[in-house]
Amino acid sequence: MKLFSCSLVVIMLITVFDAFSQNGNSYVGVETCAMCHKTEKQGSQLSIWQNSKHAKAYETLKTEQANQIAKDKGFTTLAVETPECLKCHATGYNVDQSLLGKKFKVEDGVQCETCHGAGSAYKDMKIMKDKELAIKNGLVVHEKLENFCISCHNVESPTYVDMNIEEAWEKIKHPKP
Ligand code: HEC
Ligand code: HEC
Ligand code: HEC
Ligand code: HEC
Repeated sequence: MKLFSCSLVVIMLITVFDAFSQNGNSYVGVETCAMCHKTEKQGSQLSIWQNSKHAKAYETLKTEQANQIAKDKGFTTLAVETPECLKCHATGYNVDQSLLGKKFKVEDGVQCETCHGAGSAYKDMKIMKDKELAIKNGLVVHEKLENFCISCHNVESPTYVDMNIEEAWEKIKHPKP
């Protein structure tokens, strides 16, 4: 029974992380998304994200505190070089270089495409304007916030603090006006 529930959890985690997979599309980087998601009229997505901790998630792994946490967990690598840390703090660190656009920066941490999927095939205006088509081309939207956020905000985080998803969403939401 224990073994059974264990594999169930593994399967669930794999399903969750599948949401981040990229179907062969490449990551274009925040700067590219920002071309059309920056002005107040569009919804200031860029500055809202820049002012969120998600934008600093990679930098956080470069701190003393992070290295100490990694060491305490038994890792022998620096936190910023440890895949078990990067998986919730960054995007694109584990894919072939050919899948990273020129403007993509791993330093941008938890970025647009971490949550919305690799953008090379949906970023063009003609496709973006048509939600269905954008989704077909790799855009990820989230109907159920809580299921999505807890794919990283969970007890596997060494510094886990219980988070009220609705309140947390208020801090990072970036709607079209
Ligand atoms: C060439 C301009 C352009 C670029 C580049 C662009 N977008 Fe968009 N995006 C749009 C437009 C236009 C819409 C539709 C907005 C509307 O309905 O008013 C949109 C809609 C969206 C939506 C909302 C989908 C929905 O309706 O729920 C998301 C999410 C999104 N874009 C994310 C991104 C991300 C992430 C990137 C970078 C990988 C990106 N966009 C790049 C123009 C762009
Ligand atoms: C890919 C993993 C990932 C996903 C998915 C994710 N987050 Fe985060 N989130 C992080 C990390 C990592 C941090 C910590 C960044 C830091 O402090 O450097 C964080 C921090 C935050 C913070 C700041 C917490 C604080 O202490 O002030 C808020 C708020 C937040 N996330 C909300 C959300 C919400 C809401 C969702 C779902 C829509 C979400 N996150 C989805 C990884 C993620
Ligand atoms: C932590 C995850 C996360 C990050 C990072 C993130 N988004 Fe979103 N975004 C969401 C969620 C969740 C929604 C609401 C449900 C949906 O449409 O997916 C959303 C909605 C949107 C929408 C639709 C707004 C509306 O009112 O229809 C746009 C446009 C968008 N995001 C663009 C961006 C851009 C551009 C970036 C980077 C600058 C970005 N997002 C970063 C999770 C994120
Ligand atoms: C399952 C996802 C996940 C993993 C794996 C993960 N983190 Fe995090 N990390 C988060 C989230 C979410 C936050 C912000 C909220 C929290 O602390 O739970 C965070 C916050 C942090 C913070 C900031 C804490 C603070 O007090 O501001 C540090 C430092 C950190 N993580 C280091 C690490 C290190 C080092 C590793 C690898 C040993 C790691 N994380 C692995 C999700 C994760």
